[in-house]
Amino acid sequence: MTVSISDLLNTYGSPLYVYDLGLIRQQAAAIQAAFCYQPTRFLYAIKANPCPPVVRTLSAAGFGIDAVSPGEVAMALRLGIRPQDILYTENNMTDAEMRQAMDQGVLITCGSLDRLAALAAAGATEAAVRFNPRIGDSEHAKTLTAGPLTKFGIHHSQVDEVLAIERDSDLRVVGCHMHIGSGSLDAEAFVAAMQVILEIAARLTHLRFIDFGGGIGIPYREDQQGIDLPALGARAAALMEDFCASYGRRLELRLEPGRFPVAEAGTLYTTVTSVKTNPAEDGHPARTFVGTDTGFNHLVRPCMYGSYHPITNISRPEAPPQVVDVVGNICESGDIFARDRSLPLPQPGDILAIGCAGAYGMSMASTYNLRPLPAEVVIDGDTVTLARPRTEIADLLDAWC
Ligand SMILES: Cc1ncc(COP(=O)(O)O)c(C=O)c1O
Repeated sequence: MTVSISDLLNTYGSPLYVYDLGLIRQQAAAIQAAFCYQPTRFLYAIKANPCPPVVRTLSAAGFGIDAVSPGEVAMALRLGIRPQDILYTENNMTDAEMRQAMDQGVLITCGSLDRLAALAAAGATEAAVRFNPRIGDSEHAKTLTAGPLTKFGIHHSQVDEVLAIERDSDLRVVGCHMHIGSGSLDAEAFVAAMQVILEIAARLTHLRFIDFGGGIGIPYREDQQGIDLPALGARAAALMEDFCASYGRRLELRLEPGRFPVAEAGTLYTTVTSVKTNPAEDGHPARTFVGTDTGFNHLVRPCMYGSYHPITNISRPEAPPQVVDVVGNICESGDIFARDRSLPLPQPGDILAIGCAGAYGMSMASTYNLRPLPAEVVIDGDTVTLARPRTEIADLLDAWC
């Protein structure tokens, strides 16, 4: 890539989110090649990054959309995705949201018995059902979405209740769904949960698809290994082949990756504003803080999940490394991107690249402390496109007064 990052920051402001569409295509192709069962349908979990050029890139690669809110459905429709290519995985949806999705012609995956019953009572003839298969895995407890502590899905022991709703209405359960957590690097957990879901699916007689959800993690740390996707894809294919042979019909396999296609393609660039050192005191060694012009309002993952993101000093890569804390400009002590990180010692004005920020970065950003949102730029080869301009303080204030 020959694009100059400092030119981008001069043009669009700092901090700045940059997404590389070429990398997104590569990741999409890798997961598509790995899951060899036919037919397999990929739905992009748009929550990871709803930036329109990102969504269009994945749609052009053949992905449909997994949405979890009316806003995400609306974005997909606005981008020209057909309703039949959108799955709305609900989570405590309202009756009004349900009726709207029905009017939009979008299939709903119900995560509770009462919502399934409400959908049947509203005259829906098709739904998918999300089950909690007991087994989950994720990068953090807050992103674990299966097992006894989670609010998600219908409990695996409640298949009879689902069948009763089907029997007493015109509604047919056409999809059996799971999503066991986000950011998993454990293929065994996926396979174990898939087996539970297929046992449940065997009891549902009207299925068209099995949806194994998203959750595939990426190696954020240099020493982490990604999941062996071809191996996982082959095991999923074997499970599906066996299942379909006894089910009597070939069903579609669905997957809903969000993080995997986009995380590594995104970088949050930020400018160093201050470097200061607290001298050693009370048994604590000296500590150097590298302050930046962004914060957890723009990338909450380190603060919320303790997540590791690679950070590089692109202005001064040859400077002697020093162990520092990289911190933000938000008025909270937890506003820390990295503790005890070895970095070529930055100076004010240097640009830092916070890597693997393409998923759950800007999509979870807020305007806390009345700080505006950064711009988003996409790069495709040598072509740079502004996807969303930086918001201005006036935009924030105008919403109130
Ligand atoms: C229903 C559903 N599907 C897919 C995903 C995507 O997960 P990931 O980004 O970990 O692939 C999520 C994320 O929370 C989800 O809730």
